[in-house]
Amino acid sequence: MSLIHDIDKNKVPSHVAIIMDGNGRWAQQHGKVRVMGHSAGVDSVKLVLRAADNIGVKFLTLYAFSIENWNRPKYEVNAIISLIMRTLKNDLPDFMENNVRFETIGDHSRLTSKSLATLHECIDATKNNTGITFVLAFSYGARNEITVATQRIAEAVKNGTLSLGEIDESTISKYLYTSKYPDPEFIIRTSGEYRLSNFLLWQSAYSEFYFTDLFWPDFHREEFFAAILDFQKRERRFGKTSAQVKK
Ligand code: FPP
Repeated sequence: MSLIHDIDKNKVPSHVAIIMDGNGRWAQQHGKVRVMGHSAGVDSVKLVLRAADNIGVKFLTLYAFSIENWNRPKYEVNAIISLIMRTLKNDLPDFMENNVRFETIGDHSRLTSKSLATLHECIDATKNNTGITFVLAFSYGARNEITVATQRIAEAVKNGTLSLGEIDESTISKYLYTSKYPDPEFIIRTSGEYRLSNFLLWQSAYSEFYFTDLFWPDFHREEFFAAILDFQKRERRFGKTSAQVKK
């Protein structure tokens, strides 16, 4: 029996973000080359996207490629990027059929015009879809995001469209790549690592975290539901006392 039946549909996080880790180690464990681990990881992406949609998650952000990942061997960087682009092209009809809206966050200045065209094709084609929003964090780094936001805020103050006194926490949020999305209530990281690795540093201030030893290619539908059930057992207090929250 699927764990989906145990999930309280009224307590589903609206934004779930995932650090997909362990593809390389999964490949090693199975006697395959690293790139095969990334291919297997794509299958998990599809299963988890559908599972999240099935229970009513509105935004799913997946950390597919960090700014630091550019430092990997060139052949692996190229392999990951072409895998992502190939998947987006192949799966666009599937996104349309399932009403998935595709968006992406990150610093895309190092991408080739071909990759940019694929991303924009997917964003444009799905922009009127009203189902789950799949946010691909691609060439993403939170410190880069905060730096760029700070530069843009300074620019706005300099040219007079924003005054110093107007800057508050919501201003900062508005200038981040994620301005259109609510902060993620729930962040999952696979592969037994307990780090944020420069992912959504500002947005994760009140997120609940879930860590599993499973490598990403072994994280499927039921494993996602198990994580959601764990989230639903928690009490989110935002600095208040338990009694205050229960009132
Ligand atoms: C981390 O595992 C994984 C990545 C850096 C790449 C993840 C990319 C995908 C799964 C493709 C996603 C595709 C779409 C369309 C979203 P790792 O290589 O760091 O694993 P390791 O720590 O075991 O070496």
